[in-house]
Amino acid sequence: MDAAFPHLFAPLTLAGRTLRNRIGFAALSTRYGDPYRISERQVAHLAARAAGGAALVVTEALAAAPSAATPVRVSAFEEAALPGLSRVAEAVSAQGALPVGQLWHGGSAHHGPRGLDAVGASAVPDGMSWTVPRILSDAEIAGLVEDYASSAERLLRAGFAGVEVSAAHGFLPLQFLSPVTNRRPDRWGGDAAGRSLFVREILRAIRSRCGAGFLIGLKLPADDGVPGSIDVTEAQRLVRHIVADVPPDWLCFSQGSHSNGWALHLHAPDMHDPVAPYRALWRAMRQAAGPVAIAAIGRIQAPHIAEDILASGDADLVMLARPLLADPNWPAKAAAGRAASITPCIGCNACWGEIHRGVATGCSVNPHAGSPRDGKPVERAAQPKRVTVVGAGMAGLQAAVGAAERGHHVTLIGAAPAPGGAAALHARLPGCADIARAIAHLMARAQASGVTWRLGAAADLASIRDTDPDSVILATGAAMPPPPGFEDPAGAAQNIRAAAAALLDNPARRGGLAVLLDLDATPATYDAAELLASHFDRVTLVTPRDAIARDSPLLVAQGVHKRLAAKGVTLLACRDAVSLRDSVLTLRHALTGAEERIAGVDLFTYATSRVPRDDLAGPLRAAGLAVRLVGDALAPRLMLSAVREGQAAADSV
Ligand SMILES: Cc1cc2nc3c(=O)[nH]c(=O)nc-3n(C[C@H](O)[C@H](O)[C@H](O)COP(=O)(O)O)c2cc1C
Ligand code: SF4
Repeated sequence: MDAAFPHLFAPLTLAGRTLRNRIGFAALSTRYGDPYRISERQVAHLAARAAGGAALVVTEALAAAPSAATPVRVSAFEEAALPGLSRVAEAVSAQGALPVGQLWHGGSAHHGPRGLDAVGASAVPDGMSWTVPRILSDAEIAGLVEDYASSAERLLRAGFAGVEVSAAHGFLPLQFLSPVTNRRPDRWGGDAAGRSLFVREILRAIRSRCGAGFLIGLKLPADDGVPGSIDVTEAQRLVRHIVADVPPDWLCFSQGSHSNGWALHLHAPDMHDPVAPYRALWRAMRQAAGPVAIAAIGRIQAPHIAEDILASGDADLVMLARPLLADPNWPAKAAAGRAASITPCIGCNACWGEIHRGVATGCSVNPHAGSPRDGKPVERAAQPKRVTVVGAGMAGLQAAVGAAERGHHVTLIGAAPAPGGAAALHARLPGCADIARAIAHLMARAQASGVTWRLGAAADLASIRDTDPDSVILATGAAMPPPPGFEDPAGAAQNIRAAAAALLDNPARRGGLAVLLDLDATPATYDAAELLASHFDRVTLVTPRDAIARDSPLLVAQGVHKRLAAKGVTLLACRDAVSLRDSVLTLRHALTGAEERIAGVDLFTYATSRVPRDDLAGPLRAAGLAVRLVGDALAPRLMLSAVREGQAAADSV
């Protein structure tokens, strides 16, 4: 038992199987798989979380039935998936963790356009895509129960210790549990007993097919956040029926719904939310769960938070998804007294955004996520070199740390007196303090690995040559130029970075009206809008697009919309800004061309598409130096891309 975290590292016995500690890796879809099948990349990803010390490793959602099939999910219902699943079970078990497969069926829940072949409990439109499912017949429902049981039995044969049934997040089992989506007049609908029957039959069939020693977890909401659906009282009612009939080995309560336009973000609370925001829900659900173990989930960032949750009796184990994507060695570091060295998940949800974008997931703080190096000890360079990194934003910091940890002699030059670049300003915006944790983490590693830094001094050709580098990594970020028509430096239009910094440095309320022109569509712009809302009486956000936050991951965008609405920010879509004279801003409607004026503008500020600051690259190359551009200096994108490129540059030196 670890002295610092005695509850976290106490073993737990469930269904006769011993978990070596109280930490599970929660299901996290990756898009690392081959179509319908497990890939070696998935095996390595899950094995890394087991090697990092988790006691349970839950796979990402696996399709439990033919009607759930999609190329991005492994078809657990098909015998041809068995060899891949066996490789997962073997690799995870070899690292001392218990492999668990998550059984999933999406039903009518769709993010994209309408699902044309969707099935569901009732003909109720999906709240995201307007998909109206075909109603499942009694015989089809019985067939689905059989599919879940035979998928579970396949996982048992593959060597899995158990399954987790996904009945949360608005998917098919939840569509049966919820009175909003289940309007059935037959035995599968009606009161809580009827609506829980589908889930109970699935659990019963798995238990009967796989035996008492096979773990069964159930993930469902304690409050799905959908009006009229499942609140705490209804969740307690449903859980009482389930536990009295076929008790699972653990219950994991996860909120939000993929089937609702405004509740999805609740399932992965982000940096704007408190840590472990659902503790009161777990306490409420324990009353209904009787002796069944409660698995806590949701933004359990650090071991001391997990320890407190367990010590207080709010839960019996903790499930971590994003924290173990950010650092697979989270459990091992906590157990070894090195909790301070854990790479912290900052709750940016870029990992989710990558999935939504249709590509393999990654992580803004773990550049090796999804690669064979993930979680592995650093490979030292054969030949130490002198590496000069110009720019101390996230890309530059990651490059400097990555190179120094490989044994290179690294000099980091940053123009600003403090590290972090644009991320350091973002960290000061409302709800964004977690970004500062990522910067502090990299600075601690820079110090430990012997990086020499010179901050507060802009680099030029001469100062870079003075470092006598074998290799130069340019991470000089990007500028935010004024929009067309507002180029006059003596004009009143202000760059949002300068405007935000000025407000942060002088917290006195300004009052009046601020207008923010959004031509960048990044989360930082909307966080800055929140800052404006705390300084001005009125804030108007103007975009030439038909909506804001279109480029943000859907669940990030939901949070943006909710916070801006709560703060009374007015949105004006389809408008271009034309001119600002005597505090009168002229806008032009992008579709009709009609002009309109906003008078009494006290601050007009803009966030524009960033332009790479790469002007040092040419002279350095002309001087014969090996130069690599990374991050926004290469092309302005996400922190995730910047950090990944910084590390890739370090790995290639
Ligand atoms: C990228 C991503 C993929 C996810 N995929 C799944 C999934 O396949 N099945 C599931 O039940 N939950 C999934 N979740 C939700 C997580 O399991 C978890 O409930 C949520 O992220 C909150 O936990 P955390 O704060 O530890 O990340 C996913 C979350 C993220 C961020
Ligand atoms: S991408 Fe962001 S939210 Fe996702 S695991 Fe990494 S730091 Fe956490």
